[in-house]
Amino acid sequence: MSSGEESPLDLDRLEAEALNLLGEASNAGALDAWRVRFLGRSGALTSVLRGLKDVSPADRPQVGARANRLKTTLEEFWKSKQEALREEELRLAAQFTLDVTLPGKTFPVGRIHPINRITREICRIFTAMGFQVVEGPEVEWDYYNFEALNIPKDHPARDMFDTLWITPEGSEGLKPMLLRTHTSPMQVRVMEKTSPPVRVVVPGRVYRYEATDATHESMFHQVEGLAVDEDVTMADLKGTLYTFARALFGQERQVRFRCDYFPFVEPGVEVAVDCFVCQGKGVHADGQGCRLCKGTGWLEVFGAGMVHPQVLRNVGYDPRRYRGFAFGGGLERIAMLRYGIDDIRLFFSNDLRFLRQF
Ligand code: DAH
Repeated sequence: MSSGEESPLDLDRLEAEALNLLGEASNAGALDAWRVRFLGRSGALTSVLRGLKDVSPADRPQVGARANRLKTTLEEFWKSKQEALREEELRLAAQFTLDVTLPGKTFPVGRIHPINRITREICRIFTAMGFQVVEGPEVEWDYYNFEALNIPKDHPARDMFDTLWITPEGSEGLKPMLLRTHTSPMQVRVMEKTSPPVRVVVPGRVYRYEATDATHESMFHQVEGLAVDEDVTMADLKGTLYTFARALFGQERQVRFRCDYFPFVEPGVEVAVDCFVCQGKGVHADGQGCRLCKGTGWLEVFGAGMVHPQVLRNVGYDPRRYRGFAFGGGLERIAMLRYGIDDIRLFFSNDLRFLRQF
């Protein structure tokens, strides 16, 4: 008998062998090898069907029909085995990756530092009034920090600022350099680079050579404001700071301007907002003095004034044509008032119990 002449018996044996091996196939690779071996183009069943032409005409219909049935059977078994394996695979995967009863994983999430928060809030208030936000260098020339702001060498106003010097104080032949003691030098830098109208706010770090306590740090933040144009008046300063105070501390806020001295403004003022805790009364209903404003009813927030004509001249502006107002103050102080914080050292001591509250 030639290889093509499979008797029905051989086909029975082929079927038994195929189904037996199919049962043993336990993964996709084995299943594929099985398919190639029995159903593939040069597989066992295909060669049976090819050999049909050599079977005697009498047997051919019977053998042919048997072979075709076997083909259908093997294909069906193969399909359902394939499905079974896929399901098993999914079940295993689910078992190893998804246990819905496990507790969830918590990822630590950072927060916005209270100083950044108050900075953003303040900048938003001023940008809404048409101010641009700019930043400047923390390491600064003596010229911008003092000289151009009308504070010449040996001027007693230098005592207001305990300065951290980069170059040794009084060193010959070196342009004196320092860590800026306030954000006011940016007034000069901005005016040098642009012509009026000018409207900027400048948030940033400043440094003072200072012993630290609950209200003093050697590094802290300020925000500076400057507006210069042909007809800027003190009324614009008042209106701007009223709008600011009410946006930040509440719509009923009152603002107080009192005379103060800063060499780079004339007149100079100290700006205070009435206390939003005791509503400016200084005492509470129970007769207790207000702790936030220390019984005064007022909270000082800014130094301010009309830009000194000498400062305008220093940057090449004609003081007969232009005038401006300026203001500046500590961001920690504003944040302390706003959030009820009683020690400035909390801001940068990296205590998460404090920082997580914001
Ligand atoms: N730079 C001053 C300080 O650090 C604050 C200040 C006062 C800024 C008056 C101003 C101003 O712009 O006009 O104490």
